[in-house]
Amino acid sequence: MDYTRLGRTGIKISKIVLGTMQMGWRVEEEESFKVMDKAIELGINCFDTADVYTYWADNSYPGKTEEIIGRWIKDRETRDDLILATKLRGAMSEDINDRGLSRRHVHQAIQNSLKRLQTSWIDLYQIHSFDSDTPIEETLHALNLLVDKGLVNYIGASNIHPWMLVESFWISKLNGYVRFETVQPPYSIIRRMLVEHQMEHVIKKYGLGVIPYSPLAGGFLTDRYSSEGPLPDTPRSVGAQKRYFTEKRWKIHETVKEIAQSKDVKMTQIAIAWILTKEFITAPIIGANSVEQLEENFVSIDIKLDEDEIKRLDEVSNWVDDYEAIR
Ligand SMILES: NC(=O)c1ccc[n+]([C@@H]2O[C@H](COP(=O)([O-])OP(=O)(O)OC[C@H]3O[C@@H](n4cnc5c(N)ncnc54)[C@H](OP(=O)(O)O)[C@@H]3O)[C@@H](O)[C@H]2O)c1
Repeated sequence: MDYTRLGRTGIKISKIVLGTMQMGWRVEEEESFKVMDKAIELGINCFDTADVYTYWADNSYPGKTEEIIGRWIKDRETRDDLILATKLRGAMSEDINDRGLSRRHVHQAIQNSLKRLQTSWIDLYQIHSFDSDTPIEETLHALNLLVDKGLVNYIGASNIHPWMLVESFWISKLNGYVRFETVQPPYSIIRRMLVEHQMEHVIKKYGLGVIPYSPLAGGFLTDRYSSEGPLPDTPRSVGAQKRYFTEKRWKIHETVKEIAQSKDVKMTQIAIAWILTKEFITAPIIGANSVEQLEENFVSIDIKLDEDEIKRLDEVSNWVDDYEAIR
């Protein structure tokens, strides 16, 4: 396993991050433990989670995933082996203040995440998205205090606009606060514009670590989906249909499939290997529902795409034309 520096920070993470959003939703505790065991065995040292996972699932609630990870950490005594990333921002209960990025909620959220995860520190604490009701100064001040107290090592931002990030850097600098060291945007071969349009410039200029989510577009970039066939039997398929079923995306799907067949590998592996060709990416966060899926996706780090394959994939997924069209 190759380890790579997380942005400007002093820590190194594996080229693949294990996502955990499926734990307590698509996968129950027993299988979740097996997936995490296998991840450690493969050398994956960075896990990503969030306090709100998995509030949307039947028979679940916000905090369930962190609780599963916490029990696994305790049972397997793995805390020292992990770079643990979690997030705050979403609604944790009906209480109108039990959400957002206020100073009050930052202090409440960290205590609850630490308790659920059965740890005394978080390596990377990320805002899940911005909070237009709270001044960013207030949030950064509160996060800075968590770092000073040793509860958090680094802070990061997910689902944030590039201009907000740059504004936050100036506020951190002016006040002597720590700054966001990582970003976590959605990024895949069918969803490039959001990152490559402006965020990529910010990433390079400010030396950010980049751990993108949904590298398989929630499962769309697998051969379970086809333009003619029925929707696969998964709760994610309706969302995939709404977001991704367009002519252009089916063309991308087809190209990924053709290249996978020509190399005798899986579509998932081509989709992830393509992301790994982008130098500004630190490590994609993969979602795996089973040990088999994890092993399959993990192999991506060894797949080498040649120049022609990269060119074909880049061209078929080129977003610049789309951008010009909507401008
Ligand atoms: N910051 C945010 O707002 C945000 C949002 C989303 C996710 N995330 C993070 O990113 C992680 C990954 O996101 P994601 O789950 O959307 O990633 P993804 O890799 O795009 O999608 C994962 C889904 O793809 C399918 N899949 C995965 N491996 C497969 C394989 N080998 N063969 C066939 N199907 C396969 C499964 O779909 P089925 O379940 O349909 O079987 C799985 O649920 C999450 O766990 C979470 O940590 C963050």
